[in-house]
Amino acid sequence: MKRILFKCTFAAYKNKKFMEMLDWKNLPFGYVKTDFNIRCHYRNGKWGKLEVSSSEYIDIHIAATGLHYGQEAFEGLKAYMGKDGKIRLFRWDENAKRLVLSAEGVKMAPVPVELFREALIQVIKLNKKFVPPYGSGASLYVRPLLYGSGAEVGVKPSSEYTFIVFVTPVGPYFKGGIKPVNMLICRDVDRAAPLGTGIFKVGGNYAASLRALVAGKEGGYASTIFLDAKEKKYIDECGPANFFGIKDNIYITPESESILNSITNMSLIEIAKSLGMKTERRKVPVEELSTFIETGACGTAAVISPIGKIVDPEKNMIYEYCKDGNPGKETMKLYNKLVGIQYGDEADEFGWMTVVE
Ligand SMILES: Cc1ncc(COP(=O)(O)O)c(C=O)c1O
Repeated sequence: MKRILFKCTFAAYKNKKFMEMLDWKNLPFGYVKTDFNIRCHYRNGKWGKLEVSSSEYIDIHIAATGLHYGQEAFEGLKAYMGKDGKIRLFRWDENAKRLVLSAEGVKMAPVPVELFREALIQVIKLNKKFVPPYGSGASLYVRPLLYGSGAEVGVKPSSEYTFIVFVTPVGPYFKGGIKPVNMLICRDVDRAAPLGTGIFKVGGNYAASLRALVAGKEGGYASTIFLDAKEKKYIDECGPANFFGIKDNIYITPESESILNSITNMSLIEIAKSLGMKTERRKVPVEELSTFIETGACGTAAVISPIGKIVDPEKNMIYEYCKDGNPGKETMKLYNKLVGIQYGDEADEFGWMTVVE
């Protein structure tokens, strides 16, 4: 009895020490090991039961289609600790729908929405201690992943799939507060083709973007702006984030058949409308950059990265915003409202948050 009590006290002590060691405010947007992940297998035409695993590794068949033929898709969303001690998950149903779309896009078995929800809730509850405290600016990043796990040698869809959800605490994207970043227009690499897989969140698109992103980073840019692959006339998106520009009280964001439909962008459009702005989703010619008062990139990781400067080396153009070094007024209104809803500080007037209980 004494021994058990000692063991439990020691485990609790170790746990407390570990959690104290996590410097929530300075966590990177990177991987931190948590206690559990959730897995589920699709075999013989149906999904099995959710399984809890404490391993960070997967055993994968050497001929799995996920490894060879890019049958892989993923999602990314966040859970937030509120001042009231409640954990809130942001618009998981949109991520569930997008994963279905991506699965169908590369001929994988889609994960049913209810299974997706159960896996998310379970994995967050199991790793509750890793949800960063309110006020740290950090959050729990949730990464659902789906891949073809059956063995094939010819190019064809797998008959087996694996669905995994893991979580990792991530720090505030902007450590010293939200700051404008610089971006580079890329004309020599295409992330996705117009009738290709750009609208799906599949790994291949990210592999295709890496040459440009790395070159941009090496040049000191936060990200690369991809243009439409066919004509190189219109803005597509900003690396792993959608683009928006603001002028004349209008929030304008590109319409394109090769970009990912950002859930953050969808939400900002709704917020912009509720704040009395007009919104337009349409083609955005590169030259229009000179007419915007504010521009930004939006996505789950940063919510909004205000853009300070866009450089187009081949056209010898530089577009500048935020000349005083601070994000624009409209950008901040949109950012504060969305972050307020996510942390539970603002009323959830759009019904976007799910309390994890
Ligand atoms: C290519 C790409 N575009 C846009 C986004 C932003 O989407 P969301 O707001 O759903 O995170 C992401 C991130 O998921 C992305 O990878």
